[in-house]
Amino acid sequence: MKIVIVKNYNELSAAAALMIADVLRCVNNPVLSLATGSTPIGAYAELVNAYRDNKISFKNVLTFNLDEYVGLPATDGNSYRAYMNKHLFDNVDIDKDNTNLPDGTADDLEQECKRYSALLEKHPRHLQLLGLGRNGHIGFNEPGTRFDSVTHVVELTPDTIKANSRLFADGAVPRRAVTMGIKDIMAAKRIVLLASGENKARAVYNTVKGRVSDSCPASVLQTHPDATLIADMEAAHEIV
Ligand code: F6R
Repeated sequence: MKIVIVKNYNELSAAAALMIADVLRCVNNPVLSLATGSTPIGAYAELVNAYRDNKISFKNVLTFNLDEYVGLPATDGNSYRAYMNKHLFDNVDIDKDNTNLPDGTADDLEQECKRYSALLEKHPRHLQLLGLGRNGHIGFNEPGTRFDSVTHVVELTPDTIKANSRLFADGAVPRRAVTMGIKDIMAAKRIVLLASGENKARAVYNTVKGRVSDSCPASVLQTHPDATLIADMEAAHEIV
């Protein structure tokens, strides 16, 4: 795994945006897989700025998000669809029909997982953006998830529910999500993992220096041919 350590969150965001912008410039019909959460917000803001400065375009871009909560419609401000619209899609020239997230409101979630998996099979990703859970999760693939998993429904761990509850005013955090599997994530040509802040330091250590094991799902990235970790000093302090 390549490791890029930067000073702070602003530098992390700029570095991540540069890697994504490179794909947009070099590939005719780029396919991106995107993450939500606090960490990539700065990178998305950088991409919006680059678009406004006419440096990049999202016209031919196809996107797949990693995950979505079960039960939250797109109109719910806490859904990942709403997040993506707010931080990226509404602010660039992307065709919304080319943006895909699992549908957490589907009546038949098993069927929805199959539909999403089939789409992923059909559209190999040029770049996969990832945040890192404090427990080493990627997407919502919690510790113990098989490395050969594809899109599936997960019960979120108490730690993840607690970490996400800050975003839900009434504390009613969904308990389940639909997530791409680890096999889907690993299928991307290039992977960029972002980690910011002291509370990610242990997970960064386990990801980079730990044994490749499902007890830290992100450790699987050690076996990917083109994975880059971009971490700020706080997140990286246990590996330097
Ligand atoms: C988000 C996702 C999660 C987050 C992770 C880190 O789509 O799949 O794996 O990337 O929980 O979240 P933040 O960035 O909020 O610390």
